Amino acid sequence: MSELPSLPPDFVFGAATASYQIEGAVHEDGRGPSIWDTFSREPGRVLHGATGDMACDHYHRYPEDVALLRELGVGSYRFSIAWPRIQPTGSGPVNHKGLDFYSRLVDELLAAGIEPAATLYHWDLPQALEDRGGWRVRETAERFGEYAALVADALADRIPRWITLNEPGCSAFLGYADAHHAPGAAEGTPALAAAHHLLIGHGLAMRALRTAGVREAGITLNLSHVTAASDSAADLAALVRAETMQKLMWTEPLLRGRYPAAEEETWGELITRQTFRQEGDLELISAPMDFLGINYYTPTVVRDAPHRRPDPALRTATDCRIETVDIPEVRRTAMGWAVVPDSLRELLVSLRHEYADALPPIFITENGSAEDDVLSADGQIHDPDRITYLRDHLAAVANAVAEGVDVRGYYVWSLLDNYEWAFGYDRRFGIVHVDYDTLRRTPKDSYRWYQQLIAANA
Ligand code: NOJ
Repeated sequence: MSELPSLPPDFVFGAATASYQIEGAVHEDGRGPSIWDTFSREPGRVLHGATGDMACDHYHRYPEDVALLRELGVGSYRFSIAWPRIQPTGSGPVNHKGLDFYSRLVDELLAAGIEPAATLYHWDLPQALEDRGGWRVRETAERFGEYAALVADALADRIPRWITLNEPGCSAFLGYADAHHAPGAAEGTPALAAAHHLLIGHGLAMRALRTAGVREAGITLNLSHVTAASDSAADLAALVRAETMQKLMWTEPLLRGRYPAAEEETWGELITRQTFRQEGDLELISAPMDFLGINYYTPTVVRDAPHRRPDPALRTATDCRIETVDIPEVRRTAMGWAVVPDSLRELLVSLRHEYADALPPIFITENGSAEDDVLSADGQIHDPDRITYLRDHLAAVANAVAEGVDVRGYYVWSLLDNYEWAFGYDRRFGIVHVDYDTLRRTPKDSYRWYQQLIAANA
């Protein structure tokens, strides 16, 4: 533990989860169906056909989970609010029973001395809105702004930190271009429209949060440290396209109020023929944020590649003539993701150079690893690889701080083993093991390690 470089004294240590991944109780207290309820029931979409129907049953067991957080000693807990619990069809009045759940959770956290950090959207779009076009249409962004206002009115006085969207890149591209996530579409310009409407939704939610008096609000992006496989002109051009898709199409509008310079080179006619942008959009999207949330897991190496679909009419928004290349000789997590902790420091330092004063303070809102955990004969879960992963990534954060990057906190993904989207329950990210038959929670060695680290830094 002593190997860890020091972090600022007021650095926030936290843990994170998301509604659909842990709550279960999908039919309870008036919750409406989300796109994940639909998608997970479609044959072949999710490993072993797993759904979030039960998940960790956190909806009923939240007092036990808050007790685990209190024991752990975290200063903050990041969770998400399920839109279809608040508005079962995505519009109209508040469903009070749904809202009450989050109110109880927040009170439980505050009583335990833990600061709630709420994400307004972690992928569970009300199905009724998807039926009207989902994020492809601007109306969804407008509904999202209204939903944000309802939630903020009720909870802003008790929740200090707010995140509008979690990983809009995954919502837009895994959901509407790669079909790996709900709603499972493989589209071109409509996926780019989804990305834009997510940003509009963010802007409208920021406005609603401000109106409710929130002083700590931002967005969470999934950023990777991206490099080119070689110095060839073609690979360096591929790097620009990859960065445009993964980072710049989000950071440029959010932090600089402009669209990325290389968008035409990246998407060609998919973007030049767009009709979804309107006057005033960039102003709305670029309203000042108090922090930028970053979810970080693994770096990416790219090289130039031909179009996957030569016919432009069939092209999806992620077909940008890029191929990712394996990173040799590093450990891989159970997700197959390369473990290169220093790449997190590189990402943070490069963002600082790129955006300088336009970069708000940063929270690492997720970082963690899926491992093939086994319950040992002693009833414990010994997960040394996860401990090493967490320790080395925290060290990378500390090194970035030492190089002048303003990082304010770090949330482990995840408190609990949970529903890992298209991988169902087959990937375990928790520092607490969940037995899906009995729903019994067992803290892993990594939980004890994190507990000691937090205590040592208190
Ligand atoms: C990012 C997502 O926000 C979260 O829901 C997911 O479980 C983790 N990454 C791990 O893939």
